[in-house]
Amino acid sequence: MDITYYGHSCFGIELNGKYLLFDPFITPNELAKGIDPAAIKADYILISHGHEDHIADAVSIANRTGAKVICAFEIHQWLNKNGVINTHPMNIGGKWKFNFGSVKCVYAAHSSSLPDGNYGGSPMGFVIESIKSSFYFAGDTALTYDMKLIGDYRTIDFAFLPIGDNYTMGVDNAIIAADFINCRQIIGMHHDTFESIKIDKDDAAKKFSLAGLELIIFNIGENKTIGHLQE
Ligand code: NI
Ligand code: MN
Repeated sequence: MDITYYGHSCFGIELNGKYLLFDPFITPNELAKGIDPAAIKADYILISHGHEDHIADAVSIANRTGAKVICAFEIHQWLNKNGVINTHPMNIGGKWKFNFGSVKCVYAAHSSSLPDGNYGGSPMGFVIESIKSSFYFAGDTALTYDMKLIGDYRTIDFAFLPIGDNYTMGVDNAIIAADFINCRQIIGMHHDTFESIKIDKDDAAKKFSLAGLELIIFNIGENKTIGHLQE
């Protein structure tokens, strides 16, 4: 799968010819000054929760591209009020089949309010399942025992996990999460953007490697192929 990193927890993924964009936060991100949000392709935008650092560029990118936004019901209502009408509201436990594969919304232990203070519903993670490959995008979350359910019922080829600590789980808990979801290939996110989530990336990679896991950390703007070539 072709994956591009736009900083913080924002990734673009090409899946079955469709462009999926997760948690767009580019314009306010000092570290992502080299990224032009107007050049990002999107057929779908997936938003894990309403916090500014996951939704900042959602309205502008959705309006420019016409992408369908997949998010919690309360975020869908807020987007509709802010002029984005192509939305697909979901909630935790629900699954829906789209033309790139299916999306299942899973539990995330976090909070969710929108930038103007509106209630954002429950924060979520997403399990994306296509014919040959599945991956998990955890959003912002603590380590939870519920993650075992994700790994027990399907094969997760690779997973996006927060590793920055302070607002979410950190490296040590992400290693346990990788065990719970039974996945060896982890893409780190939600680190370095703010002072309180700065981490030692070499040390993090070493810890994952000692646990028999692979931690993949993208540079902002970097593109990599991960998982099965055939989707
Ligand atoms: Ni958050
Ligand atoms: Mn966040």
